[in-house]
Amino acid sequence: MNNFRYYNPTQLIFGKGSIARLAKLLPSDAKILVTYGGGSVRRNGVYEQVTSALHGFEYSEFWGLESNPTVETIRRAVAQGKEKKSNFVLAVGGGSVIDASKLISAALLRDEDPWQLVLQGIVRDRFVPLGTVLTIPATGSEMNSGAVISSSETKEKFPFHGQFPTFSILDPEVTYTLPPFQLACGIADSYVHVMEQYLTAPGQSRLMDRFAEGILLTLREIAPLVLSGEPNYDARADFMVAATHALNGSINWGVKEDWSTHMIGHELTAIAGLTHAHSLVIVLPSTLRVMSRMGDKHDKMLEYAEHIWGIKEGNDEERIEAAIQATEQFFRSLGLTTRLREAGVSQEVEDEIVRRFTERGVVFGENGTVTPEVVREILADCR
Ligand code: NZQ
Ligand code: ZN
Repeated sequence: MNNFRYYNPTQLIFGKGSIARLAKLLPSDAKILVTYGGGSVRRNGVYEQVTSALHGFEYSEFWGLESNPTVETIRRAVAQGKEKKSNFVLAVGGGSVIDASKLISAALLRDEDPWQLVLQGIVRDRFVPLGTVLTIPATGSEMNSGAVISSSETKEKFPFHGQFPTFSILDPEVTYTLPPFQLACGIADSYVHVMEQYLTAPGQSRLMDRFAEGILLTLREIAPLVLSGEPNYDARADFMVAATHALNGSINWGVKEDWSTHMIGHELTAIAGLTHAHSLVIVLPSTLRVMSRMGDKHDKMLEYAEHIWGIKEGNDEERIEAAIQATEQFFRSLGLTTRLREAGVSQEVEDEIVRRFTERGVVFGENGTVTPEVVREILADCR
């Protein structure tokens, strides 16, 4: 196990009716900038619950943070927050609203353009505090310091690290209005978050492996219950907690991490407009295949095959391939397509991704072996 440092200050408030506790979590002198997405909260009662909890507080609302939030919209939110002298940001929505609010909370105390902060990759120290009311289990943004911001002008999408939310409210009942596609995406994104941290090399930490496998098995178990459309509270509760745990820094203690699938997926979103999780379910199976052939993931894939899919028959290569196919089949069972051609992504997009990575001089993977040429191979396998 490698040395590690762990820090996570986010207070979680979980369960039915938790939004009502908002008033107790906010400082009494708060001048709040409340950030929202496109309006789903108006259709599921979240907006009413938030405004009733905010009764007596000074606040202004900013609407219209889009999926894959853009710096262009964020600049307008920052301008509003500066004008209102906001000293607290309350994000009400999914990963997109929360990610955008992490950047807003940093930019409110700075003169730099928000895109400059994104390009820095990490923003430290000065933030207006941030609280969240989560409406879609998927990204883990409610309990991590990461954010991913896009630019419509340059068609780029980059991750950066800012602050952790001071608190996040998680009420599984607010997920009942999520459409099947978003539920599928939330399950898939969480699954891939675990895979990026778990599926590297064996023998680093038994405990991290068992934690990770527990989340993967939970996601598989709850997927049909969540997608049945029934308001099954316990399944939604497990979904929400699993999604938070998948990316709150609790399963990567002292172990290697990959993130190639995410970095390739972000380009597919930026250039071809694919939804985040949809890009991941297309890229992950091929990343596993190509990296196993190169040797990086070979031995861990055998453990994954047995522990998650019960695959014990066949030689090494057959077991690895069976596990990759089972993973792809799981994503398809959620109702997502898993091939670039099915998503209408052209060869030009693949070429542009390889060109960008070459120009940026980046390599990915737990061992730094995923060069732009390996990315080309992965993308060809995703066809
Ligand atoms: O905008 P509204 O109208 O609210 O609608 C949203 C949006 O259209 C809707 N929605 C959310 N809650 C709902 C609901 N509809 C009905 N009922 C509800 N309860 O769902 C749509 C998707 O929302 P969004 O916030 O975009 O989804 P998600 O949470 O998947 O966030 C995706 C963004 O997070 C980034 C992605 O790259 C992408 O930009 N990520 C952030 C990470 C992080 N901060 O750690 C890690 C992830 O890997 C990911 O990259
Ligand atoms: Zn993700």
